Amino acid sequence: MEITKNSRNRIEMPLVGYGTYQLSTMQAETCVAEALKAGFRHIDSAEGYNNEEGTGKGIKASGLSRDEVFVTTKLFPGYEKWGSKEKNYKQSIATLKEQLKTLQLDYVDLYLIHAPFASLRLEQWNALIDLRKQGLAKHIGVSNYSQERLEEIMDADLPMPEANQVEFHPICAQTDLTNFMQNNSIEPVGYSSLAPLSTWRIEDGQGGEVLSEIKTECQNVTRDVAEKLKVSEAKVLLRWGLQRGYAVLTKSSKPSRIRENLELFDFFIPEDDMSRLNTLDLQRPMAWAANGVDPMEIAAQLK
Ligand SMILES: NC(=O)c1ccc[n+]([C@@H]2O[C@H](COP(=O)([O-])OP(=O)(O)OC[C@H]3O[C@@H](n4cnc5c(N)ncnc54)[C@H](OP(=O)(O)O)[C@@H]3O)[C@@H](O)[C@H]2O)c1
Repeated sequence: MEITKNSRNRIEMPLVGYGTYQLSTMQAETCVAEALKAGFRHIDSAEGYNNEEGTGKGIKASGLSRDEVFVTTKLFPGYEKWGSKEKNYKQSIATLKEQLKTLQLDYVDLYLIHAPFASLRLEQWNALIDLRKQGLAKHIGVSNYSQERLEEIMDADLPMPEANQVEFHPICAQTDLTNFMQNNSIEPVGYSSLAPLSTWRIEDGQGGEVLSEIKTECQNVTRDVAEKLKVSEAKVLLRWGLQRGYAVLTKSSKPSRIRENLELFDFFIPEDDMSRLNTLDLQRPMAWAANGVDPMEIAAQLK
């Protein structure tokens, strides 16, 4: 597929999305408005981010019509270990309805189960199938689902997720899972593309220091490629994700970085540099590590 500013994947999702994790409600309002002003047309939210009210206000403030913006949000499935009760079918339906009120929207473009944290996950998936039938979600998918979890849905003879949002950067390159998703028409969406950078989640309490010791080699190669191409390291990592066939999500609380992170269409990473970046895979996710969790592993422990 050609990668341009306006490219969309098979579910009409613009290939670069603005993520809202770790923004306060007030920041979400100003940053989402800023992102839409900069040209983002894809916003990624979640029940668990506790800022959907701000995200909704930011979308409204942009003055864009509803069909110009692709909005994703997620169901928090519940996780008993964190004292959060698993949602059943009825509660999952009710949750999106509440989120839509908070977001001030009539529908979302994509609704995801945030992670396979619940033993009721097939019941939750059935709720998403019905939410799509009701038109409250145009598309439905999952996040942090391994091949095994996706096969569980297939084995239950249910419609398959249209997208799977997973951590994706050179240190966590998801090669086998990506092949499986491609073979089953599941759109890959990457999060935390910037996790290898020394500037990732460095404010107090954001948790970016976890696993920082494994990033050195990736940082060296990324810096080299960035210097050669005369672009920032952040842009190299985001563009790498696009060239690997992913839609990418990126968050910043700073207007200049918000704009920078969307400037991914006037350069190209040559094959030899892609190959160097492709050798850095340690299959190590980092985004949830500060919470002591590998989200793909949890369902295996539930059984
Ligand atoms: N489904 C899931 O389980 C899941 C998990 C994690 C994330 N997500 C989604 O994916 C989105 C992106 O992931 P993420 O939040 O980890 O964001 P990210 O874009 O990978 O990294 C954000 C971090 O990098 C910094 N940063 C942003 N742009 C930069 C630049 N150009 N140069 C240097 N540093 C830069 C930010 O700092 P400043 O804010 O200070 O600029 C922030 O600390 C999330 O917001 C969320 O929507 C989903």
